[in-house]
Order: sequence, then C-alpha cells, then structure tokens
Amino acid sequence: MNYTKTIAVSELPEGTQKAVTVAGQNVALFHYGGKITALCGTCPHEGGPLAEGNVERGADGVLRVVCPWHGWKFDIATGNMPLELGVRQAVHDVKIQDGFIFVSDAPSIPAIPPPKHDDL
Ligand code: FES
Repeated sequence: MNYTKTIAVSELPEGTQKAVTVAGQNVALFHYGGKITALCGTCPHEGGPLAEGNVERGADGVLRVVCPWHGWKFDIATGNMPLELGVRQAVHDVKIQDGFIFVSDAPSIPAIPPPKHDDL
C-alpha cells in the first residue's frame, strides 16, 4: 500500500482535525483520544467537508464527526454511520514516521455509499 506524507503531528494537536490532500483525494485527519485517524473528507450525502464538522462522543462512547451541512455522523475510526442505512465512509490507514503523518493512498476500509434517493 502506498502512503502519502501529509502534515507534521505537531500541526494536529489532540482534539483537532484538518483536511489534507492524499493522492488527489480530500481526506479528513482527526486526532482524538490519543489516536490519529483518517476518513475520506467528503460527505457521501451531498459533499459536505467532514474536516469542518464537530467531533462528539456518543452515549455509546464512540467518537463521531458530525457533517456541518446536514448532520450525518461518522465514527472517526471505522467510518460507520450509527444509522440503519449501513452507510460507511472510507477509512485510510495512518502511519507516523519521523514526526509526520503518512496516509494510505487507497482506503484500508472501503466506503459503503448511501442508497440513491430513488431507493429510499
Ligand atoms: S452533505 Fe453531509 S450530511 Fe449532507
């Protein structure tokens, strides 16, 4: 798996998130709970910027980013949505090397897109 060097770990303090570009893709990096994770940064609903969403801990203890456009929520570690739709945002693998965050060019966990509006 190929990795792209992104930003320094020091540029992503605990409790923050940031959009980066990885192999031409918008990726949202998150640093919460002592862990750095990476999701596809474009919401599968209508393209909202997930790196600009708030991260909140659910009653089940799971950290999720809330899309700033219409409120869809994604687990920042697994990409899963907590809804019956079974939608999942793609997750990229993260490696830390020499103080920098490297992100896999291809997702390590593939997306499960939402059903088309016609199917709802
Ligand atoms: S674009 Fe993200 S919830 Fe609508």
